[in-house]
Amino acid sequence: MLRFRSLTCVPLIVLTTAVGALAQQATSPDLDRKIDDLLQKMTVEEKAGQLTQFAGNTPETLAAVRQGKAGSLLGVLGAQQTNEAQRAAMENSRLKIPLIFGYDVIHGYRTVFPVPIASTGSFDMPLLEQAERVAAKEATASGVKWVFAPMVDIARDPRWGRIVEGIGEDPSLGSRVAAAKVRGFQGKSMADPDSVVACAKHYVAYGAVEGGRDYNTVDISEQLLREVYLPTFRGAVDAGVGTVMSSFNDLNGVPGVANHHTLTDILRDEWKFDGFVVSDWGAVHELLAHGFAVDGAQAALESLTAGVDMDMVDGDYAHIPDLVRSGKLPVGVVDEAVRRVLRVKFRAGLFEHPYSDPNREKTDILTPENLQVARKLAQESLVLLQNTSDILPLSKSKTVAVIGPLADDKASQLGPWAGNGQAKDAVTPLEAVVAKIGKEHVLYAKGVDIPPFEGGLAAGVAAPAPASATGAQGAEDNGKPASINDAVAAANKSDVVLLFVGELAGMTGEASSRSTLDFPGDQLKLINAIVETKKPVVLVIESGRPLDIRWAPKNVAGIIQAWFLGVQAGNAIAEVVFGDASPSGRLAVSWPRSLGSIPTYYNHRNTGRPGSPDRWHTGYLDQSSLPLFPFGYGLTYSKFKYGNLSLKTPVVSTDGVLRVSADIENVGKREATEVVQLYVHDRVGPTSRPVRELKGFERVTLRPGERKSVEFSVKANDLGSYDPQMRWVVPVGTYDVWVAPDSASGIEGTFEVK
Ligand code: NOJ
Repeated sequence: MLRFRSLTCVPLIVLTTAVGALAQQATSPDLDRKIDDLLQKMTVEEKAGQLTQFAGNTPETLAAVRQGKAGSLLGVLGAQQTNEAQRAAMENSRLKIPLIFGYDVIHGYRTVFPVPIASTGSFDMPLLEQAERVAAKEATASGVKWVFAPMVDIARDPRWGRIVEGIGEDPSLGSRVAAAKVRGFQGKSMADPDSVVACAKHYVAYGAVEGGRDYNTVDISEQLLREVYLPTFRGAVDAGVGTVMSSFNDLNGVPGVANHHTLTDILRDEWKFDGFVVSDWGAVHELLAHGFAVDGAQAALESLTAGVDMDMVDGDYAHIPDLVRSGKLPVGVVDEAVRRVLRVKFRAGLFEHPYSDPNREKTDILTPENLQVARKLAQESLVLLQNTSDILPLSKSKTVAVIGPLADDKASQLGPWAGNGQAKDAVTPLEAVVAKIGKEHVLYAKGVDIPPFEGGLAAGVAAPAPASATGAQGAEDNGKPASINDAVAAANKSDVVLLFVGELAGMTGEASSRSTLDFPGDQLKLINAIVETKKPVVLVIESGRPLDIRWAPKNVAGIIQAWFLGVQAGNAIAEVVFGDASPSGRLAVSWPRSLGSIPTYYNHRNTGRPGSPDRWHTGYLDQSSLPLFPFGYGLTYSKFKYGNLSLKTPVVSTDGVLRVSADIENVGKREATEVVQLYVHDRVGPTSRPVRELKGFERVTLRPGERKSVEFSVKANDLGSYDPQMRWVVPVGTYDVWVAPDSASGIEGTFEVK
């Protein structure tokens, strides 16, 4: 008896959806015939094999490959290793079906890019696409044909360690980023030797785990699911993503790996996705712990019938042959899953080109061109949060104290999930500042170490950074831990302090949720001591989540949120700090004022008692409920004036197109890039609507005195929302519209939908 039948919701009628037309993958009769031919020859054991992924290339996994019992290997890297394993499939297995090699290429393979929460804030779709092209080129040079990316989870809770890997808090920005990344990974064709098959993950609502605790339960409404958590996946599917990974979490009581409603009703039936779904690591067997299956056999049955085609590493799909023989599992369900896996393998060109060219490893990885893309994306991803009295950019003739535990920590520059990235490749801020202004102008002191968290939770946290090799004055000697006194002394001798604080990379990412947003260890003591020197301070925060910096705006002059910027982190930071590059990155998540104000997200509903000066409103007695910095926020080195808002279409029909323009003028003294944002609010809808929703954006680069009219076009259909019966509707009536530098300001008008 298949439990999913009683668990699925009533089928939903969706008239149309918020995102563009479905880009269906062509399924040619020729391809179907090839798959049918193979299916006819396969034993049920070989079919189960195609649905099974093993980790590594141990003698046992290679034996399974030869017996036709493995469809994919995870974490096998290098042309030699992958080709050797592929030979086991192509030369020793009966049907010679190629393996597909998978790996986590979340923000670059060897050339590590900024973590996704940072690069999403670049709002630069062509550059994000280009970065994933580079990642695909490097991964395929190493034999990896399938990447477990893009990670497109929306997150509103910075306690969740994986907010760093995700796509921010906005479904509209997120779905455009998802599509750009899929295009970058898969290129013109997945079959090209330098393209990979992408995998949108973790399907779905993983970012909504209760309390921000990883793998935790998720209980959200169907409306929230559809309006906030699903659109990024839809963006990836519309862009032709080859595969999807199901999530660990349960959704309203049904684990992601056994959720027929999300995997089949929505993904396959509504969206017509025809690639394959892989479980997350061991998640099929986790159905036992969820209390959803009594044993591995039932777990396999629940997952496969819900719509998970490939089982990642736990081996439960080895029960498939017995399940078929006992009559519990119709062989047609197995065939359909195998068909999807084979379809992707054919589309990826693996039957024609199963091997990778070992020469490419020498020519395609960590090249100067690849590093240049990483550097540009890092420059565009860091966010200038404060620049009092234009302290930045700094003059290169100043004496600069470079202080803090992250100033020279190579491993942390890369961030978590750094693919095949290597700490030695990373340029630290200290190295870059020394290279830029000369060691005679730099005083370095680490100040404090960041200790790993106690209790075993911080396993895998990077070791304290080695002593600086840059030769800057005052570097620690003989590995002796530097003290705050050294840091204070360095600050006192300097004109300005660059203070690098935050989290170690390993304090973010999977299984790295935190119960506070504090600076770990003694960093606040260090910060206080430096502030007390009264020297001008530029705080540079490296972290995978917004930290609690309520104290900062009044105490330091400059604040840069650098996240983890990857292999070129130091260069990008130094270039922005000294004005060789101009900051343009924006926050892809709202910055909460404090731990207690989580969740803070810009697209919240108004409530019956929106913010007001009295106590009887939706807020707190003891602090403002507004974010410290809103979604979309970020300064440049110039100033922009917004004016002449023009509603080209003051009245729009429900099948029409809204056209809005505004003049953006650079009224400052430097050339700069402004991320101009379009927000809309439906005043009265079938459900109460968010106070603002992002509907468009454009990066605009202007010289001082230059002005540009920026025009946005939005299909009225994309202004719609789900009604309580989950039908997509475009409500008629009055809408507010803003053209804005962030989600909390801008110039405002109205239009009507009729
Ligand atoms: C578990 C993670 O949740 C997922 O993102 C990753 O792709 C797999 N492990 C494979 O490493």
